[in-house]
Amino acid sequence: MGIQFRQETFRDDFTFRNSETGIRRFPFPFDKDNYMYAVNIEPHTAGPNGSVFEHPIDVDEHYVSEMADRAQVLKEDPLRCQSLPHMTLAGWDLLELLMESMSTSYPEHFTLERNGDQWHWINRPLGIDDRFTFGDVATLPYGPMEYITRQSQGDFCLLDQRDGNLWMDAGIVTTQADWSLDFDIGMNFMEWHGPVPLAHQLGVFERALKFMLNLRQGSPTRRLNWTMTVNPRLDTSPENYHKWGKDRTTLTLDNIGNKLHLRVELQSFFRLPRSNAIVFPIRCYLIKLEELVTVPKWGRRLHRVLQTLPPELVDYKGLTRFRDTAVEWLSKYDDGAETSPGG
Ligand code: HEM
Repeated sequence: MGIQFRQETFRDDFTFRNSETGIRRFPFPFDKDNYMYAVNIEPHTAGPNGSVFEHPIDVDEHYVSEMADRAQVLKEDPLRCQSLPHMTLAGWDLLELLMESMSTSYPEHFTLERNGDQWHWINRPLGIDDRFTFGDVATLPYGPMEYITRQSQGDFCLLDQRDGNLWMDAGIVTTQADWSLDFDIGMNFMEWHGPVPLAHQLGVFERALKFMLNLRQGSPTRRLNWTMTVNPRLDTSPENYHKWGKDRTTLTLDNIGNKLHLRVELQSFFRLPRSNAIVFPIRCYLIKLEELVTVPKWGRRLHRVLQTLPPELVDYKGLTRFRDTAVEWLSKYDDGAETSPGG
């Protein structure tokens, strides 16, 4: 049986929920009771069946609704998708990676047939059946990056490698934690990471960049990042801050369990074969506190992480207005038990 896709919204009436299975497979990001930035990069190898790491590109129950939300963001703001002229080849590389991965991992939902440069792509959940010539932009309704990422959960940045640096020269960014592709386009690794506190002084970005520059084709890597979002809103962009910024003032002890979400990004890194670019998929997973505490060790741990989070990170992640309320709410779920690393 294939995935049961949910019909839900990430705006207005916010009907997004996780099923029981969705809760159990949530990528809880903390392996100890406190948190600080580190170069937490590991090989992107296959994880347990059913986990978000089972396949290189994860498709889940939110797929169809997330794609509808992306289409709406792009309709209102086409600048969420940009590709500088020299990045078209990387776009084809990405199209190949995603089509191959999705059709191999989920054959009941996606099919790719290749006959030389004549390709046939079937996406059943979205009702798409297209034939095109690989490498010929005129045979697709959008550029290759936009075409395939309108059909793939998560944001994507395409990074050109030159002069010992990575350059954000293309991307589609509609589910981001308060940063802007339109602002960052053309920037390099150190420039777009400029606003992040503490990590520069710790040497995190210097080491991470070295790691990235040496990324090899066929050996993708991954890391988890996290923040918190009020309501299950995917598009928390600076462009739309006027729509969601005020939500942060609405949390109380009575509603925080339902409204506040842990937002985890599964970030992966793939070297692309023809262009030598890197693709950086940023896949966002949301879980409300009430769902999260159904796994007792998660509730206990999140309480401790939030309680001890360095003030610079509280501020940067935008938690200042509600961190104390969240800690108080979560304290009911922390029995003070010793926890083990990873557990
Ligand atoms: C934050 C992009 C790789 C660590 C960010 C931000 C962007 C970004 C746009 C938000 C900055 C802002 O506030 O405007 C990327 C891209 C990468 C990449 C495109 C692909 C190469 C990495 C790697 C690390 C890393 C390899 C490893 C340590 C971080 C951290 C933050 C951050 C710690 C702060 C996140 C938070 O506290 O929520 N990144 N990044 N990034 N990035 Fe990266």
